[in-house]
Amino acid sequence: MRDPTLHEGLQALRDDRAFDPAAVSAVGRLASEFGTPLYVYDKAAITGRFRTFRDAFAARFPKLRVHYALKANTNGALVALLRAEGAAAEVVSLGEILAALRAGFRGNEILFTSSSKGPDEISKAVEIGAVVNVDSRDELEQVAALAEAAGRRARISFRINPGVDPHTLHHINTGIAESKFGLHLDGGLARAAYARAQELPSVDIVGVHCHLGSQITETDGYVVTARKMLAFVRELEEALGVRLLFVDLGGGLGVPYHDGEAGLAPEALAAALEPLWKELTKRLGYELELWMEPGRFFVAPSGFLLARVNSVKETPLKVFVNVNAGSNTLLRPAMYGAHHRARVVGRTGAPETLDIAGDVCETGDILAAERRLPRPEAGDFVVFLDAGAYGFSMASTYNARPLPAEVLVDGDTAALIRRRGTVEDLFRDEVLPPSR
Ligand SMILES: Cc1ncc(COP(=O)(O)O)c(C=O)c1O
Repeated sequence: MRDPTLHEGLQALRDDRAFDPAAVSAVGRLASEFGTPLYVYDKAAITGRFRTFRDAFAARFPKLRVHYALKANTNGALVALLRAEGAAAEVVSLGEILAALRAGFRGNEILFTSSSKGPDEISKAVEIGAVVNVDSRDELEQVAALAEAAGRRARISFRINPGVDPHTLHHINTGIAESKFGLHLDGGLARAAYARAQELPSVDIVGVHCHLGSQITETDGYVVTARKMLAFVRELEEALGVRLLFVDLGGGLGVPYHDGEAGLAPEALAAALEPLWKELTKRLGYELELWMEPGRFFVAPSGFLLARVNSVKETPLKVFVNVNAGSNTLLRPAMYGAHHRARVVGRTGAPETLDIAGDVCETGDILAAERRLPRPEAGDFVVFLDAGAYGFSMASTYNARPLPAEVLVDGDTAALIRRRGTVEDLFRDEVLPPSR
């Protein structure tokens, strides 16, 4: 019988078979070749999820453009992989614009959204022909002025705040009325912004955008939002004669972080939106492009964070498993109280209640609280699942701990896609005052 591949080992971890020889061998091989803490991504999982999404939507929306929201994971290897699958790019900073260009995207395949853009960022987006997704009237005037000064025309959309609560975590709810994002439909603010844009010779209006939030598991919020957005598209055409190229309904599809959860299936979302879209097309008499921009959905389940157990400690109240990763490596649990499934690799003992604690000096640095798992020993490995999105991209060097390495697994091969940070990296940019 042949040896199991790395991909099969990762699959065994996902399937809650962390004791399986395939999982033990994959984790052992990856840890000994690349060290820990280590982010590992499974290529087949990323391409599979992109295709699932695209196929569900392409079957119902004749003009479709699927963006990858780079903020979920900006590693160039993953960005290039999604580009090769046919994704466009949604970016939120100059750094992400450059990451998209570096991965091979052309300027006109990039959508630049941020609620607070600097002049250098706007100028770069205009220069490359990206769509600038404008967040305020103030910003509109700046985009127009910078485009005019450069002798160019800026392609713009506006981000709309639809005032809809998609029932996700408050911290990642972006489409509610009190959030900082977008122009409100209420009070005619969004309409007035389009009317003003029509007066500006250096801007071309091409679309309208919204994004409700992240980790959304129900279709209702999308449907309510789509109704508002599509009514607004008609209003723009009828009242102002504005003819758009696209409507962007954002990203935000939730993925399962607990055993037994389902996440939001693209098929369900596409089916829920289809009747509204058909109605709009009938009323307008032409087909708009539907743009979508998920991040988490494509990359979260592909990712694993491997950590090594430094020590195990019993207190009168708890058993702490101290690992060599922490909230500096994976911030989501400390930042949002987010849950990541944790697996102890290669142990079959009776489950005990364990807290997996990070190596950062913060009380809140618990990566997985009160989990029923077999007790590991120092030198064992613990793996956190679904760590492909907002994992590395939110990592920091807090406590002067260098950034982890990243690896992309394809079948039975593993390619280093980011070298491990070093202590020298931490101090490279520091400027010490001259010693007296
Ligand atoms: C404007 C915008 N688009 C897309 C996304 C991607 O969201 P998600 O990763 O939940 O799909 C985000 C994330 O916050 C966002 O702010």
